[in-house]
Amino acid sequence: MAAVASSIFVKVFRFEPDKAAGWFQDYVVESAEPLSVMALLAKIHEVEPAFACRTSTCFKGKCGSCLVRVNGQDVLGCVTLVKPGEAVVVEPHSKFKLIRDVVVDFSQTISARKEFDGE
Ligand code: FES
Repeated sequence: MAAVASSIFVKVFRFEPDKAAGWFQDYVVESAEPLSVMALLAKIHEVEPAFACRTSTCFKGKCGSCLVRVNGQDVLGCVTLVKPGEAVVVEPHSKFKLIRDVVVDFSQTISARKEFDGE
């Protein structure tokens, strides 16, 4: 009988406004079932409360408050599923000003990556 994958490997962008540069931090989330990116971020927040992510969301792909960048693509995190055994890179959405970690300011459409990169 083949072993069942039960770990999801998540590399998450971290940023604190009082620090000059952001960084990536690795997490392993245990799950035997596919999880949405938002569920992954919520689980990371449970074990590391200093990690900022949005939690007040519709989880139906309608409100847009879960916008993040996953493996280089801007997506709705609530409808983007990650299977056990997979690895993902989660960053802030590229079109909005970065506030903290993967939380962006939806009122300011500035490229977070360009600002972070100093461009
Ligand atoms: S939580 Fe509303 S669109 Fe994803």
